[in-house]
Amino acid sequence: MKKIILTGDRPTGPLHLGHYVGSLKNRVALQNTGDYDEMYVFIADTQALTDNFKNPKKVHDNVIEVMLDYLSVGLNPEKVTFFIQSKIPQLCELTMYYMNLVTLSRLERNPTVKQELIQKNFENSIPVGFLTYPISQTADITAFEATIVPVGEDQLPMLEQAREIVRSFNNIYGDTLVEPVALIPDSKVCRRLPGTDGKAKMSKSLGNCIYLKDDSETVKKKVMSMYTDPNHLKVTDPGNTKDNPVFIYLEALVEESHFEKYLPDYKTLDELKAHYEKGGLGDVTVKKFLYNVIEEVLEPIRERRKYYEDNLELVHNYLQEGTKKAEAKAASTLAKVKKSMLIDYKDIM
Ligand code: TRP
Repeated sequence: MKKIILTGDRPTGPLHLGHYVGSLKNRVALQNTGDYDEMYVFIADTQALTDNFKNPKKVHDNVIEVMLDYLSVGLNPEKVTFFIQSKIPQLCELTMYYMNLVTLSRLERNPTVKQELIQKNFENSIPVGFLTYPISQTADITAFEATIVPVGEDQLPMLEQAREIVRSFNNIYGDTLVEPVALIPDSKVCRRLPGTDGKAKMSKSLGNCIYLKDDSETVKKKVMSMYTDPNHLKVTDPGNTKDNPVFIYLEALVEESHFEKYLPDYKTLDELKAHYEKGGLGDVTVKKFLYNVIEEVLEPIRERRKYYEDNLELVHNYLQEGTKKAEAKAASTLAKVKKSMLIDYKDIM
């Protein structure tokens, strides 16, 4: 069986450090192994509209932002096919057919959807399009016969739902669709980066994100005002590193060489943590170190971003070319689906 990697993001805002450690870094690593037959990374504008249908301009403008983020982190258009979801009409058609295979109660049970419904306060006026986005996501995945879907942890229920739909389809209509598996980071800290305010998740609406496109000054401000251990008042006080986002970020990002370069008194994160926990290590020292570590990560990302911002026609080109290729692939899958469902009518027309 072919190894096909596919994933995407909703264009609702620029991507942040949580996206980077939770998924983007994984994708670049996968791309660089070269161990795959096809790789697709797309911008899920159709899905973004399911809860942003009143804000078309926001979705439109963030398509290019997200594409710039993709290229900035090092995804390579020679290795990856990029496309815009709404430009692939076959995805809507597949969604329509998959809808028959899913019950309303199954959708309502999806933990990610459930949580989002509460967050968004839809109460008794849930838009049908929103509730059914896991079905459309299954179309995204299966249209490209994806076998591996690198995503954040919150997407696991979507993949479970996709697998169910695939099994159900193949059961009824015969072996047609390919069952995908999710790929999430090995490291637990990378799966969900807390916000700079210590809240559970980096989230645009909470204003607690460090964006990949933030400039150096902005990052410094954000890091230096990060939430730490509220009981670590004096330098000599023993500190907590466990629920402390400064240490969690370090855990997700730090490399040995960073110590040599920026904090040579310590060799490992464990040493640094031990000192903080014992007392005698100030927040400012740790934050300055974290700032340097984040800058090491963001500097090359910013540089690439600048290049692509200055060469936007290149970026447009990648999307145009990728979208063409993607549509051909989706059309081929759709043809198989319709044949299996006996709606290709080759016998009649
Ligand atoms: N649900 C994903 C997110 O919120 C975006 C997405 C849409 C996606 N379709 C997909 C991810 C297919 C992986 C595969 O970020």
